Amino acid sequence: MYKILANTLFLGKEIIYLPTCHSTNDVASGLVSNSATMEGTFVITDDQTKGKGQRGNTWLSQKDKNLMFSLILRPVFLDPMKQFYLNMISSLAVMRTVQHFLPNEMVRVKWPNDVLVGTKKVAGILIENSLSSAGVSSSVFGIGLNVNQTDFQGLTATSMAERAKVEFDKQQVLEVLFSELERLYLSLRKGDESIIKEEYLRNLYGYGAPVKLYSEYEFDGQIIKIDDSGLIQIKEGTRLHTFDFKQVRFILS
Ligand code: BTN
Repeated sequence: MYKILANTLFLGKEIIYLPTCHSTNDVASGLVSNSATMEGTFVITDDQTKGKGQRGNTWLSQKDKNLMFSLILRPVFLDPMKQFYLNMISSLAVMRTVQHFLPNEMVRVKWPNDVLVGTKKVAGILIENSLSSAGVSSSVFGIGLNVNQTDFQGLTATSMAERAKVEFDKQQVLEVLFSELERLYLSLRKGDESIIKEEYLRNLYGYGAPVKLYSEYEFDGQIIKIDDSGLIQIKEGTRLHTFDFKQVRFILS
């Protein structure tokens, strides 16, 4: 069970706890079209049986070990051309949270919205937006954060507990995460776009130093730019490539 979050203004005041479910994103997406569903409501489970990942992948998470939830937001103030700011604030909120609990680790974001400790993935985020002419009418932030799982069966993944060698209280982690997320969301609503982008780029894996990538072939490249819609510009030697979400992936060592 989880408690309503006391340290936020409007995020996390309504909790839908499901001991088990297929995908919290699917449950939240079903609720979002009902205008009575308050912004900040979240659906959380301890056992997700058909977790959805990016690019049509599945998200695997051991029962009871990790945080798996989907948060409903109504960012109508946001121009659909700037949807990627939602990816930036969600990954920064998770990054700040992990850094809070692992102060001696290198925690970074990986485009578009993964969070790494060192070069291993500790969290993944699946954002599903609904657009209207006025703006982004609703957004479901599906967040999977590896907190206490320690067996990843060969995947290049890690958890907070694996790095710290101690278990964490998931409620406490959730509280820090929601308070960071609310701070960043309010900052976006206020128009602090350049500050958000600057923090994202400053903490971005592959920005300012070459990393290994794959798109049709493997190459060393360096991120030059991310535009407001999320397209990434990568320099390979003297060539410049622009990719969208599905066209390139990073090879983590
Ligand atoms: C990824 O990195 O591929 C994104 C993973 C997102 C997983 C979370 S877990 C909670 C929410 N419900 C889902 O079905 N997916 C997201």
